[in-house]
Amino acid sequence: MKKIAVLISNIGTGTNLQAIIDGVKSGQITASIVAVISDTPDAKGLERAKKYKLPIEVVSKKENLLPLLKKLDPDYVCLAGWKQIILDSVIDAFPNRILNTHPGLIPDSMDGVVKNPDETEALWNKGKMTDKAVRNFLETKATYAGCTNHFLSLEFDFGPVLGRCFEKIKKGDTIESLYKRLKVKENKLYVDVLAKLVLSKTVMVIDGGGRGAALVDKYAQSKKVSRILVVPGNDLMQVNTKKPVITYQNLKTTSIPEILKICQKEKVDLVDVAQDNAVEAGLVDRLAEIGINVFGPTRKAGQIEWDKAWARKFMVKYQIPTPKFHAFNSTKEGIDFVKKYPDSKWFVKASGLAEGKGAIPASTINEAITAIEQMQKFGKSGETYLLEEWLIGEEFSAFALSDGKEFKMVGFAQDHKRVNDGDQGENTGGMGCVSNPLIIDKNIRKQTENIFIKVIDGLKEEGRPYKGVLYLGGIVVEGKVFIIEFNARWGDPEAEAVLPSIQNNLFDLANTINLGGLKKLKIRIDKKVRVVIAATAKGYPVDYKSVRGKKVLGIDKVKETGVKIYGSGIKKVDSGYTVNGGRVLYIVGEGKNVIEARERAYKAMRLISIEGNNLHYRTDIGWRDLERIKR
Ligand code: GAR
Repeated sequence: MKKIAVLISNIGTGTNLQAIIDGVKSGQITASIVAVISDTPDAKGLERAKKYKLPIEVVSKKENLLPLLKKLDPDYVCLAGWKQIILDSVIDAFPNRILNTHPGLIPDSMDGVVKNPDETEALWNKGKMTDKAVRNFLETKATYAGCTNHFLSLEFDFGPVLGRCFEKIKKGDTIESLYKRLKVKENKLYVDVLAKLVLSKTVMVIDGGGRGAALVDKYAQSKKVSRILVVPGNDLMQVNTKKPVITYQNLKTTSIPEILKICQKEKVDLVDVAQDNAVEAGLVDRLAEIGINVFGPTRKAGQIEWDKAWARKFMVKYQIPTPKFHAFNSTKEGIDFVKKYPDSKWFVKASGLAEGKGAIPASTINEAITAIEQMQKFGKSGETYLLEEWLIGEEFSAFALSDGKEFKMVGFAQDHKRVNDGDQGENTGGMGCVSNPLIIDKNIRKQTENIFIKVIDGLKEEGRPYKGVLYLGGIVVEGKVFIIEFNARWGDPEAEAVLPSIQNNLFDLANTINLGGLKKLKIRIDKKVRVVIAATAKGYPVDYKSVRGKKVLGIDKVKETGVKIYGSGIKKVDSGYTVNGGRVLYIVGEGKNVIEARERAYKAMRLISIEGNNLHYRTDIGWRDLERIKR
């Protein structure tokens, strides 16, 4: 059960405290009051606290509040007519956990305004307390009075708004008559807000890009989730939801001690570890050790991604179809080997993680030698590398959720890796994708399912059960699926297409999986086709330094169309957004088929621009499916 502390003083009569007590007694607020704190012993509310035998504390010096709150460790601190200044150190220690009720209408942003029900501008009443605020409503001849319940922030009389209420001002109203009516609404609002809040959950997403943005969007859709923390996140994470999204952009996904600390301080209810390097660093294991509920594979299970040489051996052992491969630990060994097969084409792959850049195609012996020499630049990740047979076929990816024993497939996608139309140019992190692609017929689906069975069973057998999202990268060669790679996470940009298709509440889904209940779970997937297009900085992936800091325009226009937009390499500045990475943002169009989904996505993309004509995107995302339809 959540714990709350209520802070009162002698400026009020304790009606909000009474409403909270009644709410707890009636069961509407499923929490316990661990203390009623007053700054003076003569506050009227203390009599109410005594009547209900609630623990009472008197704190006359503001410096003494933090040590007391730390000792009590409440989930929420409720200011109900508290008159002392709350020190910044207290707000820092309880971020988004201190509620206040303010007799005025606080806007969502510092320069925003709140409209009354009759469309007149509402009064903020910044800096005005109790009857002074009510007097202001009357003296300025406002049509409505009102109040706001909000989280405290370092800005005075401002912070994320949790709820507002309005009271029409009547002719002949006095401060007393108006305040009396306003209090009734204010009291009810406090109870409603608290009731919801104590049931609400905090989710943390570990990711910085479009995949993280898609996860934030999906978690925010859950009624149970009230706020989302993202490490590191980016400045566009907030775009699809009104719920607070707090980013920690000074951290890395592998900043384990800091992440553990935040989870404990912020009482995080679920962590979704979505990035490969965090899996390799053992973040899932470390969170689980301290009792934090975490969704994602352990380091050992994730070896299927972060150690490609190990993964290939595993695939052979469990008879999962793979291209022929050879592993090497020195440059010389690999070069000597390719020289023996001068006519072969290879994929030269770093065994460790390399931010999606570790696989180099080599169609001649010279290219193979150069690629082998390049393995050193991946540091430890390239110490072991693979030479893999270059298979010619069509690639796809498939995604399954697993609880370690069972798995369920949730979607397929087809990424477009090359930077330019016609699959020309450099390899990138992904320029766009389609989900579900038409290559997935019954036969491919069945083969994919069989591979998932083998990999999930195999990992269980090896004593490293896989919990989380498993990504299967496949290639179809003459109707047969071979594995290019497994990844221990959603793909990016595939997540931006597949996640929106899942109709279940993602928070519930992750928890059910964590509890091992996947077998009975019905996963609902909609029938829409989605096309994701990456908007990149011109020059990406080779050199786009000069585009960094340039303005990104049109985001609000896309928002108005209802087409989803997920940020990645983007930063907010006073005047709007600027470029902060190669893949800047993603647009997701949906429709009943690929033609409709593409049309929507490209129409929205045409609203985006980067200052100085510096936007680049592919214009042929989904070309394979378009050709298939034409056939
Ligand atoms: C409430 O009206 C509340 O809005 C105000 O103190 C009163 C406490 O009443 N708070 C502020 O002005 C804070 N800026 P209560 O003692 O009857 O609950």
